[in-house]
Amino acid sequence: MTDEALLSIENLRVRFRTPEGTGTAVDGVDLAIAAGETLGVVGESGCGKSVTALAVLGLLAAPPAEIEADAVRFAGRDLLGLSAEERRRIRGREIAMIFQEPMTSLNPLLPIGRQVAEPLRVHLELSAAEARDLAATWLEKVKIPDARRRLGDFPHQLSGGMRQRVMIAMAMVCRPRLLIADEPTTALDVTIQAQILSLMRELKEETGTALLLITHNLGVVAQTASRVVVMYAGQIVEEAPVARLFEEPFHPYTRGLLRSIPVLGGRTGLEAGRLAEIPGLVPAITERLAGCRFAGRCPHAFALCRENAPPLFAIGPAHHARCWLQVHPERRRRDD
Ligand SMILES: Nc1ncnc2c1ncn2[C@@H]1O[C@H](COP(=O)(O)OP(=O)(O)OP(=O)(O)O)[C@@H](O)[C@H]1O
Ligand SMILES: [Mg+2]
Repeated sequence: MTDEALLSIENLRVRFRTPEGTGTAVDGVDLAIAAGETLGVVGESGCGKSVTALAVLGLLAAPPAEIEADAVRFAGRDLLGLSAEERRRIRGREIAMIFQEPMTSLNPLLPIGRQVAEPLRVHLELSAAEARDLAATWLEKVKIPDARRRLGDFPHQLSGGMRQRVMIAMAMVCRPRLLIADEPTTALDVTIQAQILSLMRELKEETGTALLLITHNLGVVAQTASRVVVMYAGQIVEEAPVARLFEEPFHPYTRGLLRSIPVLGGRTGLEAGRLAEIPGLVPAITERLAGCRFAGRCPHAFALCRENAPPLFAIGPAHHARCWLQVHPERRRRDD
């Protein structure tokens, strides 16, 4: 964790108290993002990616959530110590978020121009005319054809890809220092996905915004991120610079995820909701496991893995993995 990190999260824990029992959705996550950096967070459904982001933004209802951390610092401020009002001011202005399904975040009853102008009115206190003009500029930046004429359009008049562009404009219009994008392209078809990703990269270059990109899809990470964090069952199991992760993945879970990417593009096993290469499921958050959480699905697991939870070991420069194979390399099966 470096001092110059824009966002740093230390030992974040999120529990949910439900009628079925208490479950730990995020269990000791450490993350740091430098200004302007793109960090990819990947992992199967239910591993705690969204809960991590929502906890940082103060968007989880508590109860049922219980959030604890040693520190969550953003630009030198302690986010957890802020009042709800102070956090609201940071959200949208300095940290913006894009959600997977644009229709849940866009107001169906308001024209898109008004929705893109709204953060400018709230956070930057621009006049209606100034905000409208800047909103139009941003709709042009996100390449909505004929943007100025379409300020009065309602979300239902736009395609899914166009709605996602509106969401990006809304998120970027105040030039936030950090953009959290949670599965920003999952709901879109492959060609539109590629366009939206390249648009996000372009805007990031232009504005210098740091990007926390949450996705199931390692292909998306390969194209966009400089560093990757792999999550499994509420924990970080591997982290590395992107090229290193693809060339020398260490954790058997990461290797499994990488094997699910087809060589020639197209839909991956992950996108299709299947993980043929890794049998079994992520354990339920209410399940208490003694050893490594991946042991039940891991082809290399031996006695130690079932008894003791491995720490995050240093594997190489800026490369860490939570796996006992680091100290018992002889246990790695040759065919993996
Ligand atoms: N409000 C809640 N109450 C109880 N459990 C919850 C709540 N919100 C999330 N969870 C649980 O926390 C775990 C982590 O959820 P999270 O949404 O972070 O997963 P994710 O990694 O984002 O998955 P996906 O890829 O499907 O979006 C899941 O088991 C989920 O069921
Ligand atoms: Mg999610």
